[in-house]
Amino acid sequence: MNVCVIGGAGYVGLITGLGLAELGHRVVNVDIDAAHVERLNRGDSPIYEEGIGPLLRRHLDSGRIRFTQLLPAGLVDSEVVIIAVGSPAQDDGHADLSAISSVAEDLSKHWDEPDGRYRVIAIKSTVPVGTAELVRSIMGRQKREGEDFDIISNPEFLREGKGLHDFFYPDRIVIGSDSERARAVIKELYEPVIQRRVRFNGEEPPGSEPVPLVETSLASAQMIKYASNAFLATRISFINEVAWLCERTGADVKEVSYGMGFDSRIGHAYLDAGLGFGGPCLEKDLRALIKISEASGYDPQLLRSVLERNQRQVEEVVARVKEAAGDVLYQRVITVFGLAFKPQTNDLRNSQSLEVIQRLREQGATLRAHDPVALPEARALDPGAAYIDDPYEAVHGSDALLILTAWPQYAELDYGRIKERMASPCIIDARNLLDGSLLRALGFSYTGVGRGPSRASTEPRIG
Ligand code: UDX
Repeated sequence: MNVCVIGGAGYVGLITGLGLAELGHRVVNVDIDAAHVERLNRGDSPIYEEGIGPLLRRHLDSGRIRFTQLLPAGLVDSEVVIIAVGSPAQDDGHADLSAISSVAEDLSKHWDEPDGRYRVIAIKSTVPVGTAELVRSIMGRQKREGEDFDIISNPEFLREGKGLHDFFYPDRIVIGSDSERARAVIKELYEPVIQRRVRFNGEEPPGSEPVPLVETSLASAQMIKYASNAFLATRISFINEVAWLCERTGADVKEVSYGMGFDSRIGHAYLDAGLGFGGPCLEKDLRALIKISEASGYDPQLLRSVLERNQRQVEEVVARVKEAAGDVLYQRVITVFGLAFKPQTNDLRNSQSLEVIQRLREQGATLRAHDPVALPEARALDPGAAYIDDPYEAVHGSDALLILTAWPQYAELDYGRIKERMASPCIIDARNLLDGSLLRALGFSYTGVGRGPSRASTEPRIG
């Protein structure tokens, strides 16, 4: 099929376009960002994502994908138009739909260039219930629904760092539309994925049964996306709350979540206590759902608590560093391991690490920072640390080492060597990544999150 992906240089648009090209479709990714379009056409991906470079170069060579700023060029021969532009949170938490409505305006203006055929508009951006209706009403001013176009909601559930994997091996595909014709087009688009005929990175698909298809209304499809992200956020805040209870009762949250997860009604995923959830999606979507609830006259108490618990994680970790420093952070040298909002990405958006750095700086600490991939982005953004490529160099002269992103390579470092370089052997592991007993045996003061008796009674202090 011929597909046009709008917002095609962004995270969701790029993964979707490349994924569809790999399925055999001919894809044009349209984006207003000239620099990214130019980079992508040279085979250089602006995002860091497992497997993306080779796939991009392969399909530029095969001619199955190209990038342009021109919407009419993307619409030529297209049967499906995918909208994957951003829906960022406004200051008050509401989703900002201006990009979506301007795409709808542009689409209705250029729809007939050159042939005015029937196309399905699939909305992939995470948007509040009602947004599809907005696109429909803008399109409807010029074009006839059912004859010229149909709209479906087809939310994505891609995790950064695993985006391509999640595209090829989804847990489910959600198609929200009243139009049978449109649903048939989208089923055809994803047919190789649904029937598990694709392989990514030589991996076997996680199952042999077809991928579950959830065919539903526009409203339910949009809500499935919000409710899924809000539920993941709730699990994380829940286990973070349990972590603080563990500290006060002598339990260890890692053992508790491990034990809980075997219950088939619970499972192990999204039960890692730590610094809470960051990144561009979970918090934004949770805030948007809170706003949607409030606008409908409902008080979303539980959702608000999930958000508050998350905000307190950063404060509690900062308080912990302060406590270890004897309440004075002025001129203390603190090294941070991990800047990206989670491992396997260079994304600093809404990263808890940057917030921790900022809070510690405000209190007079001197920050040194390392990340395996996000240092160029951190240097460009400069949240106020020295950015050092070598982790052993980064800890030089430090009074404390904070683990803020659970990059697995941090567990492989030589902590004997690290201790020699630090001014004071203190580690605060806000992601529960390291083996505390090994580090204590090496002479470190080690504190995790929710790992047994209150730190005040057991942990030595900085200096
Ligand atoms: C999320 C959703 O998972 C995905 O389905 C949706 O399409 C986009 O939003 P992503 O933002 O890539 O994906 O991040 P995710 O892997 O879900 O992690 C979010 C945050 O939660 C990270 O900061 C991570 O470190 C944190 N997290 C995750 C925890 O603190 N504990 C956990 O157990 C899991």
